[in-house]
Amino acid sequence: MPLRRKASGRDGGPAGGRRPLISGNWKMNHNHFEAIQTIQKLAYALNSDDYRHVEVSVHPPFTDLRSVQTVLQADDIPIALGAQDCHPEDAGAFTGEVSAAMLAKLDVSYVIVGHSERRALFGESDEVVNAKARAVLRYGMVPIVCVGETIEQRRAGQAQDVVSGQLAGSLDGLDAGVVSKLVVAYEPVWAIGTGETATPADAQDMCAHVRAQVADGWGRAAAADLRVQYGGSVKPSNAPDLMEQPDIDGALVGGASLDATEFARIVNHRLYAA
Ligand code: PGA
Repeated sequence: MPLRRKASGRDGGPAGGRRPLISGNWKMNHNHFEAIQTIQKLAYALNSDDYRHVEVSVHPPFTDLRSVQTVLQADDIPIALGAQDCHPEDAGAFTGEVSAAMLAKLDVSYVIVGHSERRALFGESDEVVNAKARAVLRYGMVPIVCVGETIEQRRAGQAQDVVSGQLAGSLDGLDAGVVSKLVVAYEPVWAIGTGETATPADAQDMCAHVRAQVADGWGRAAAADLRVQYGGSVKPSNAPDLMEQPDIDGALVGGASLDATEFARIVNHRLYAA
């Protein structure tokens, strides 16, 4: 049973509870000129009704952040600025790294930590993810903590254990009050960038599992407020069914977020629901 169902208001808008967050993770795509064009096009494609139903964030590469921030501020666009990663330390001799303190100065609101590409390609452990999440929180931003199993782990029946282990390690030692404000992104590794998506039922099962674990570890109130995104080949065609699930509170979108029109169709998925 979900701890709190997402309810619709009489006008079709959200009636309290968790506000879905739809995030575009641009990964290492779009230079700052392309970023400006994309954000302008996205803002043009969305309206106040869309922003009433969902919160939207974009996560451009570091080199684009200042440009995107300037467009968002100049045109008063209610899209949250996000980053894709940060270093756990505030400053120091860490060549090539960017700190949470620097991101906060650019009005970044959300920072992805522990994306499976960082875990697999850059060897990030749960301890590192935990330290990054703490750094993000220290500067008043919200971490989007990514968890998810590989195809081998799923086939071996270990998906829930793997996700539980990542979650426990990544959130270790955080207070319930903090956990209630977090975003967890469940992203099965086999669904990322492959065109394969978890079925809405499988995605719902794992997101409910995440929420149940948070209820066990941090209490029911934290679990009821925690937002759990699904990520992995989300596109306009599958977004309505995924977003309808009671424990899925938004999406972390990679490939389909690079095109403003396609991403806008995911943001306003309610218009395409059957
Ligand atoms: P995808 O990526 O939508 O291209 O599968 C999702 C992600 O990596 O966050």
